Amino acid sequence: MWTALQDPDNRENKNAGNGGDLVKHTVYLTVVEHLLSHKPWREPLRVRECHAGRGMYSIPVDDRRRSMLECLYEPVDADVGIPLHDRQRGSQQALGVWPGNPTTLGWYAGSAVLNAQGLGGGPGKHLIEFYETCPDTRSILRTVLAALGLDGSRIESRVLPDGDDGRLFDGERYVVTNIGRWDSRDLVLLDPFAMSRQACHQAQRDRYGRIVDTIIAKGQEAPLLVLFWTWGRAFCVAEGDLRDTNRPVSNGYQDLQARLIGAGRYLISNRLARKIRGVFRFRYRHKSPRVVQVQC
Ligand SMILES: C[S@@+](CC[C@H](N)C(=O)[O-])C[C@H]1O[C@@H](n2cnc3c(N)ncnc32)[C@H](O)[C@@H]1O
Repeated sequence: MWTALQDPDNRENKNAGNGGDLVKHTVYLTVVEHLLSHKPWREPLRVRECHAGRGMYSIPVDDRRRSMLECLYEPVDADVGIPLHDRQRGSQQALGVWPGNPTTLGWYAGSAVLNAQGLGGGPGKHLIEFYETCPDTRSILRTVLAALGLDGSRIESRVLPDGDDGRLFDGERYVVTNIGRWDSRDLVLLDPFAMSRQACHQAQRDRYGRIVDTIIAKGQEAPLLVLFWTWGRAFCVAEGDLRDTNRPVSNGYQDLQARLIGAGRYLISNRLARKIRGVFRFRYRHKSPRVVQVQC
């Protein structure tokens, strides 16, 4: 049973279901839903999700994330037109863990489950491929996806590597290597969470630089890319680069932001959020022609 499986070494699990995650997942759901209702993505759309995670996250009873999630899960007995509420409800019902009352919630569905469920429910037949570095985490993800009972005639889902050898799998490297041969039917999701600015992270930042440059160079034929960052007190590794209080670093947030905006790509910026339900409703305010702030 997937609920008993554990990957205690994956420190990033504690981020699941925090404020940044809720915004990110709302963006993912909205993008996938939009693409599925438009040509040429109606059939097929190929989602390539890096930093896939374990699919389902346990939320302990004394956890700080609970009060926000209780708000998201309300009401438990109906869909209400809020994408993240309705998809959490559908996914967790399919897995048998949706609570009878928000205060008894025990789980939060991560992007892998939300995206697979969204693609599987759309028209046409689609592909979703997951890249997750940690062997225990991706083993749990395979079990969760099997339990989700996806319709194989509508969606092909794969967790790489095929024939798993139980070693670390560097999905970022896989994306850098392959992005040049993907095209506009591929949606690449990169979720590094924090964009580190230390010198020791330069090689990783350079990878993101190469991905962004490839996307820009391919123009209209480029794969679609969602590159998600968060920052702030919990992510001081990234702070400063964003707010201009530190010297920008090569291929850091400011650098990539400038290149993407220069190439006509959109940025969604979110400042969180007293009335968090407003974020779930996903209203936008255009700050500049290419920067959109999610409005709370
Ligand atoms: C923040 S968590 C993922 C959350 C997931 N995307 C979600 O929204 O539910 C980030 C995950 O990325 C994985 N990861 C970190 N570096 C990676 C890499 N180079 N390739 C693939 N996965 C990586 C971590 O093991 C972790 O499970």
